[in-house]
Amino acid sequence: MCGIFGSVADKVEYNTIKQGLKNLAYRGYDSAGIAVATNGGVVIERTEGHPKFLPDLGLTGTVAIGHNRWATHSPPTKENSHPYTSNDNKISLVHNGIIENYAEVRRFLEEKGFTFYSQTDTEVLPNLIQFYLSQGDNLQAAMRHTAKHVEGAFGVIFIHADHPNQMNLMKLGSPMYVGRADEAVYVCSDAYSFPEEVKTFSSIDDSKILIIRKDSVDVQDLNGTKLTLIFEEKNISADTYCLGKHEHYMQKEIHEQFDYVVSALAGRIRDAEIKLGGLEDCVESFAESKQVIFTGCGSAHNAALVGALAMEEVGRLMCRQMPAGELKYTDLLVDDKTWLITVSQSGETADVIGCIKNMRNKGAKVLGVVNTPNSTIYQMTDCGIHIRAGKEVSVASTKAVTNQMLAMLLLAYKIGLENGCSYRDYKAFLSEVQKLPYFINKVIAQEQKIRDICEHYKDSKTAFVIGRNVLEFIAKETALKVKEISYIHAEGYSGSELKHGPLALIDDKIMNICLLDKNFYPEKTMSNIEEIRARGGKVILITNYTKQEVDNKIYDRLISTETGENKFVTAMVFNVVGQLLSYHFALHNGRDVDLPRNLAKSVTVE
Ligand code: F6R
Repeated sequence: MCGIFGSVADKVEYNTIKQGLKNLAYRGYDSAGIAVATNGGVVIERTEGHPKFLPDLGLTGTVAIGHNRWATHSPPTKENSHPYTSNDNKISLVHNGIIENYAEVRRFLEEKGFTFYSQTDTEVLPNLIQFYLSQGDNLQAAMRHTAKHVEGAFGVIFIHADHPNQMNLMKLGSPMYVGRADEAVYVCSDAYSFPEEVKTFSSIDDSKILIIRKDSVDVQDLNGTKLTLIFEEKNISADTYCLGKHEHYMQKEIHEQFDYVVSALAGRIRDAEIKLGGLEDCVESFAESKQVIFTGCGSAHNAALVGALAMEEVGRLMCRQMPAGELKYTDLLVDDKTWLITVSQSGETADVIGCIKNMRNKGAKVLGVVNTPNSTIYQMTDCGIHIRAGKEVSVASTKAVTNQMLAMLLLAYKIGLENGCSYRDYKAFLSEVQKLPYFINKVIAQEQKIRDICEHYKDSKTAFVIGRNVLEFIAKETALKVKEISYIHAEGYSGSELKHGPLALIDDKIMNICLLDKNFYPEKTMSNIEEIRARGGKVILITNYTKQEVDNKIYDRLISTETGENKFVTAMVFNVVGQLLSYHFALHNGRDVDLPRNLAKSVTVE
C-alpha cells in the first residue's frame, strides 16, 4: 500500500508530483503530502484524503517527493500524513511499508535525546538517518546503517536539505521504479504512473541504496558495493489514465474487456493448439504434478477457485485452493511434485509473496498468473502466464479477474488434452472461448437495463448471490464486488447450501441475485430459487435462458444473456453481469466507485 512519487531535475514542478500522486491514488487515499526543496528551503504540503485535495501551487524546486497514505499505524489524519521530518528538520522522508521493530528503534532514539511528534512507525526513519549522520557517516553510510538497523519491508525516498540536488532511496520489499526522461529522473511505486516523458525505467531490487541526481543514478548494496541499474524501454499505453467517454475507471475497465480478452487470446490458439509461451519449459513437469494448489487474495482468489475447479475437472490434476493469507500459515503436505499457482493482478500482494516463500521452502514450484511484468511476484515464479489485461486503475478488479480466469482455463484445457479430456470437448471449448469477447459485449449492451434494475433495488440492505458449481465462485465474486463498492451487505453462496442455514434469513426484504446456467443441472438451481420465492425473497435472475424459456413467476427481474454451452465460459459471462450490477448499485448509492472507503488496490502489507 501507499504510493510514492518523486523527481529530481533543474526544475521540478510541485504540480507534476501532485499529478503523479493522483495517478497512484489507487494505492491509498487516506492522506497525501509533498515536499519540495527550493532555494528558500524545503516546502511541505499535506492533506487528509485523496491527493486531489492538495493545493495547486506554482512552486518549483530541484527535488520533490510525494506520498499517498493507506493508514496502518495511526489514524488517517493530516498530521499523520507523510512526509516525515527529522528532529533537525533537514530530512523530509516518505515511506511505503512497515517498520516492524519501530517501538524498539524509537526507544533507542529517545535514549539519545530524539523526540517524536506522531505514533507512526515511519517517524523513526528520518531520525535514525540523522542519528547515523551525527556519528560521522556520510549520507550513503547512514542509509546503509539505517536499512540494517530496522526490520520490516520498506520503500523510502527522502530529501536532505544539505543536498538539494539529489533524491535518496532505500528499498527492501516495497516496489520502487526509477524512470529516466531527457531532463529529469523520477521515482514511482509502479511503472505505469510515470509521466509520458519517461522513456526508460528500472525496477529496483531489494536491499539497495540509491542516490539519484538529474543526470546520474548511483546504486549500492547494503555492504557499500557499487552496482549498475539496467534500464528498459517503457512500452506502456498513454491512455491508461484517460477516461474517454466513461464516468469511472471501473466502467471503462468493464467495457474494455472485449479488447483485453481478444489480446489475451491473441496467438494462444493456433491450429487447434493452446500455446502458452511462458510455460514452455515447465509444462511437462506441471502435467506430472501430484497436486496443484491455487491461491490469491480477494477477487484473485475467487478467480483461483474457478481455475482450481477447471484444473481438476478438465486438467485431471488433484487441486486445492486457499486464500494466500491462510495458506501462508497452514501446514499443508507439500513436496517437489507440488505446483503452486499464484494469481495476482498487481504482483505485489504481501500475502501471496509470503505464500510463495513458504511453499518454496517446502519444495513446491511456482506458476504465476500475472498482469504486471517485473513485479515482485512475477520475479519469484518459475514460469507464468501473462494475462494481458492492461493497467487496472479502479480499486475493484474487473478486467483482470476475467483474464485471470481465462488464462487458467486455457491452462486447464491444455493440460486436459494430455490427461484425458476428450478432443471433442477440447475443440468445443476452443471454439466457444473465442466467442467470449462477443458474449461480453452482449452483456455490456444491456447496461441500461442493469442500471434500471439497480435503481429499483438500491436501498436493499442485504443481497444473497447464489449459484452452483463454478457459479458458486461467480456468486462469491459478485457478492465481493457488491459489498466492496456499493457497501450493500452481500453473501455469495452455493445454491445447495442455502437450505443448510442461510434460508432462515430470506424474507421479502432480501434481494437475491440468482445465477442459472441452462446447461448445468438447471432444475437444481430452479429448486433453490423456488425456495427463495416461497419465502417472499426478491429474485434478480441472471441466466442464459431466453425470456420465453423461463417461467416469469420465478423472478422479479430478468437479465438474460447469450452464452455457449461450456460452463466455465458461461461463468465468465455471468461475472460481467455481476460487475455491472455492483457498479450501478454503487452509483445509485452515491459511492466513490473507483476509490471505495478503507481499501487500496495494491495490498503490500499483511
Ligand atoms: C476486489 C479486489 C481485491 C484484489 C486483491 C488481490 O475487487 O480488487 O480483492 O483482487 O486485493 O490483489 P492482486 O490481484 O493485486 O493480488
